[in-house]
Amino acid sequence: MTQHPASATRFAPCGPLTGMVRVPGDKSISHRALMLSALAVGESRITGLLEGEDVLATAAAMKAFGAVILPPDGGGSPSSSAGASGGHGDQRGTWTVYGVGVGGLLQPASALDMGNSGTSTRLLMGLVASHAVTATFIGDASLSKRPMGRVIDPLSSMGADISASPGGRLPLMVRGIVPAVPMSYTLPVASAQVKSAILLAGLNTPGVTEVIEPVPTRDHSERMLAGFGADLTVEEVAGTRHIRVRGEAELKPQTIEVPGDPSSAAFPIVAALVTPGSEVTVTNVGMNPTRTGIYRMLEAMGADLSYTNERIVGGEPVADVTARHSTLNALEVPPEVVPSMVDEFPIFFVAAAMAHGTTRASGLEELRVKESDRLALMAGGLMALGVHIDEGESSIAITGTGGEPLPGVPANPPLIHAELDHRIAMSFAVAGLNTRGGLSIDDMSPVATSFPGFEDMLRGLAG
Ligand code: S3P
Repeated sequence: MTQHPASATRFAPCGPLTGMVRVPGDKSISHRALMLSALAVGESRITGLLEGEDVLATAAAMKAFGAVILPPDGGGSPSSSAGASGGHGDQRGTWTVYGVGVGGLLQPASALDMGNSGTSTRLLMGLVASHAVTATFIGDASLSKRPMGRVIDPLSSMGADISASPGGRLPLMVRGIVPAVPMSYTLPVASAQVKSAILLAGLNTPGVTEVIEPVPTRDHSERMLAGFGADLTVEEVAGTRHIRVRGEAELKPQTIEVPGDPSSAAFPIVAALVTPGSEVTVTNVGMNPTRTGIYRMLEAMGADLSYTNERIVGGEPVADVTARHSTLNALEVPPEVVPSMVDEFPIFFVAAAMAHGTTRASGLEELRVKESDRLALMAGGLMALGVHIDEGESSIAITGTGGEPLPGVPANPPLIHAELDHRIAMSFAVAGLNTRGGLSIDDMSPVATSFPGFEDMLRGLAG
């Protein structure tokens, strides 16, 4: 038998998943809500904020830049925001933020610890680039391996002075400049983080800063900047998006309601789709079309998904999503869909592993530079569970079991190494419920970056 560390968590086959749950607030929107509130002049209020480690790293950084950020109880521990309660009796409170104004960031007293969070790092680098402050960014082992050149290059062109560790990695130091130089930048990689870093730098830059996006990526920054009163326009030109922000902006404080994270909702939804007899409803899920690629692909595979209570919350479309166990048929994911489901591939691969036929996806090079090399970890883990996988440099082909549980290794259940990646851990937790003999995951603690309460939610649905 493989020796499993004491910290490992076991996930084993269970009965049907049933119930109604609410997932924590959207991570992307939560980061932006804190950053823009901290840049507005006056008091903003935020409900539904994701109180996960990544977002708390952003909150700590914005405090270090001089904003006042008060959690719901005025300074105590964050409240729980996940659970199998369907949102009834939900304890989510209101965060209050007093901003410093665009141009008003103060010099932080010490290095900013970004933990595991690439979004905090890249967006805050953009903010610092056009302010008269110098900030040092540090992070955990996973974040310290991730490429920052993609933001260093454009922000340097705007005048920031950035010294990074070898390979353009953390730890790194950004010396901002005032005034920064506006520019027009065509994204060489489809990345909302790079787009947002430049737009945030543009906020305190005289004139108009433009980002040209050949392939659309999540547009939360654009929506929220406009909501805070920034002079921002989006123009479609020959299939590309031109996003322009006028600098030296004055942001007006807002009241923001953060919807549930569609990336987090994908875990209980896929779990219900692949586990016989299941029916699960996730309430209050963000349905921004730049984020819902996985739902469109699952439906094209035959997933029984229904959407009710569709509404607009804080400028974002939201719905309650019900998933019932379904027969899934393989498909080919069109490369242009990749940005709208870039974080969902790990759990999508679990669905594909139980579908009929061979699911193929290409254009997946970005998966190799997320919190881990997600292509390699998912391929390796699923192969250890007996799934037939063909892994290419930026593509994958997964031959599903045709609705049967994953073969697994009942005599010696595998130990999955999540390598500090929350989504790898959650994806294999869902796989474990449908694997003969189950599996163990070495370390579930990274799940706290995006989905506090995940394990309780999953086990609660399994009854
Ligand atoms: C995010 C953008 C995506 C995504 C990440 C969050 C954001 O990253 O993977 O989890 O909030 O802008 P890329 O911009 O690197 O694709």
